[in-house]
Amino acid sequence: MERFADKVVMITGAGDVALAVGKRVLSEGAKVAFADFSEQALAAAAEEMKASGYELERVMMVECDVRRQESCDAAVADVLKKWEKVDTLVATAGIIRHLPIDEMSEKDWQDVVDINLGGVFRSCKAVVPGMKKRRYGRIVIISSIGGRTGRNVGVNYAASKAGVNGMAINLGYNLAPWNITVNTVAPGPLKGKMFSSMPQEQQDSLAADVPLQRIGELSDVAAAVAYLGSDDAAWTTGEVLDVNGGLQY
Ligand SMILES: NC(=O)c1ccc[n+]([C@@H]2O[C@H](COP(=O)([O-])OP(=O)(O)OC[C@H]3O[C@@H](n4cnc5c(N)ncnc54)[C@H](O)[C@@H]3O)[C@@H](O)[C@H]2O)c1
Repeated sequence: MERFADKVVMITGAGDVALAVGKRVLSEGAKVAFADFSEQALAAAAEEMKASGYELERVMMVECDVRRQESCDAAVADVLKKWEKVDTLVATAGIIRHLPIDEMSEKDWQDVVDINLGGVFRSCKAVVPGMKKRRYGRIVIISSIGGRTGRNVGVNYAASKAGVNGMAINLGYNLAPWNITVNTVAPGPLKGKMFSSMPQEQQDSLAADVPLQRIGELSDVAAAVAYLGSDDAAWTTGEVLDVNGGLQY
């Protein structure tokens, strides 16, 4: 099934989740733009797409720092110049700094909120005018179980992820008249570098609690994003899709 034939998918971030989503939608016919502020991440993404057999004509890399609106606007302009539209935006760019509040600096708070919440605002703001003009858009934001339970994460991260869920409710409602849907996917712990960077004790306690008895695969999240980013979910908006092995909150 080629759900993404003729579709242009822009993904902020070029890390673990972004690459899994990219490969999934490429396998369903999409053209994919990865937008990251790290040259290294973009180079690794290009390498991995090539190694996975995707012709580089269907893949582009754009520099984008989601901390700045001009950078998001310029990244979208690059994609429009090459492919004329963005059908689906997938916002994955994010960071973690899990510290107890009494050890968390103002900067730790600001940085996480600025990227995980402000960055999603700015990337959405950059794509919405084109989507409104075409009366079509699918926006999928990567949230987290941390924004649902608030457990095992820093208050900065929990607030930023709960914040994007609120953003999807607001934008899902307000952009519906233009046939633009906005949803979030809230993953539990996934096999990837974000999870493995947590202290072992925290990793073990998270894994032990999962009813489906395993940590999530990146492909589990990619499948959910592909659903919400496609026309299969054309009548779903403002939702949070939990992908967490049954870890309830
Ligand atoms: N991995 C997990 O276990 C997990 C679980 C739940 C939610 N998430 C969420 O999924 C998303 C992706 O996580 P991941 O595992 O792929 O992480 P990752 O660290 O592999 O990738 C994140 C990417 O975001 C980029 N980035 C950071 N700041 C940026 C900025 N200012 N501008 C542009 N790009 C920036 C980084 O360069 C990196 O390539 C994050 O929002 C994360 O909070 C991850």
